Amino acid sequence: MSQRPGKNPYRPGVGMKPAFLAGREASLRRFDAILRAAPDQPANMRVTGLRGVGKTVLLAEFGERARAAGWSVAAIELAPRHATERALADTLAAQVAETRAGLSRVARIKSALGHAGRAAARLGVTYNDVKVSLDALGPSTPSSDTARSLSANLYEALAAARKHEREGFLLLLDEAQGLRDERDRRGEHPLSLLISTVSALQRTEPPLSMGLVLCGLPTLIGNLLRARSYTERMFRGEEVGRLDATAARAAFVEPLRDTGVAADEKLVTAVVEEVEGYPYFVQLWGAELWDAAQAAETNRFDLRLLKVVRPEIHRRLDVDFYAPRIDTLTPAEQDVLLGTAGCSYPPLRAEDLKNHVTKTPGNVNVLLGRLVDAGVLFRIRKGEYDYTAPKFRDYLKRRNA
Ligand SMILES: Nc1ncnc2c1ncn2[C@@H]1O[C@H](COP(=O)(O)OP(=O)(O)OP(=O)(O)O)[C@@H](O)[C@H]1O
Ligand SMILES: [Mg+2]
Repeated sequence: MSQRPGKNPYRPGVGMKPAFLAGREASLRRFDAILRAAPDQPANMRVTGLRGVGKTVLLAEFGERARAAGWSVAAIELAPRHATERALADTLAAQVAETRAGLSRVARIKSALGHAGRAAARLGVTYNDVKVSLDALGPSTPSSDTARSLSANLYEALAAARKHEREGFLLLLDEAQGLRDERDRRGEHPLSLLISTVSALQRTEPPLSMGLVLCGLPTLIGNLLRARSYTERMFRGEEVGRLDATAARAAFVEPLRDTGVAADEKLVTAVVEEVEGYPYFVQLWGAELWDAAQAAETNRFDLRLLKVVRPEIHRRLDVDFYAPRIDTLTPAEQDVLLGTAGCSYPPLRAEDLKNHVTKTPGNVNVLLGRLVDAGVLFRIRKGEYDYTAPKFRDYLKRRNA
């Protein structure tokens, strides 16, 4: 025993930047390439993955890299209240205004320090060109007033970016699985609104340097396909998955660097096995081991310590990670969800589920739809579902026991 561990270097939590970002080199390379290819190729990416796999952290890293590459960047975490055309357009307008104000502020500071920029450059495309491009997308463009005001706002964001010598304007939208078009023509089509306006800006001659990254649960993939047939080619798909064993090991071991704490080889192997490559789990296991080491006044992570903290890790996992996803559901939705624990798996089949809950088949289908809307399940294909949180089924079994 020597010095006691200091501040906990692990970051279990929503969107918390880890001390060491492991296993995302290829994704970052692809993102950099997309930025470099703009505007000749539209800088759009669709980022999907399960809960806790590291999407928000990756998106933040994209934002930092884009800024470093000279782009003007706006990032929004969408919420269910943004799921109408009007609400989405208003939120984006507010964000654009804030981004423009930020650019002017930086310019004022620079000029006060005597670093005057070059004479303002122009876009080479007028807003009228954007309108022509928008109209060319066809009559199915959602409620054109909203589309026009949104495209005008995005155009202003691009004009401001150019004026302040930025490479372009990049919009990062997290939790984008909540944007979903209604089937009814007169219903809400926020996703179509977004992609058609962005597409209009990217299709002017010459194309404008606008980028869009949509990030969310795997439900986003189907939502996009249903919204517009051309989205298949419009977005580069990036699936954020589990870390491989080498990356998971690095995610666990690297934060210990320079802390004076060391992890036994056997312990590292055990942790890498238990976390199954899920970044949130890596952080949680690490954070709990750290606190336990501190309590025990030791600077070694070993198997004995893991054995002692394991029940606490599982308790915290249930309380912090899993339970909040169930507690907000209605009793009927909870019944169906708990019923899935008895089904054969994977995947969950709606047909099979009907044998495990006392509800009419029609009712089960409606409730499954609501569980998808609530972000607890996602639809793989017609009649087949999976959980959005890793190892969720084990949790349901524990809960049913
Ligand atoms: N590449 C990584 N290496 C190490 N830790 C990571 C990595 N990516 C994410 N984490 C950690 O995993 C946890 C979850 O990250 P994040 O919130 O980005 O996930 P998410 O996919 O956005 O989850 P959700 O779907 O719930 O929003 C955080 O504690 C974060 O520090
Ligand atoms: Mg997230």
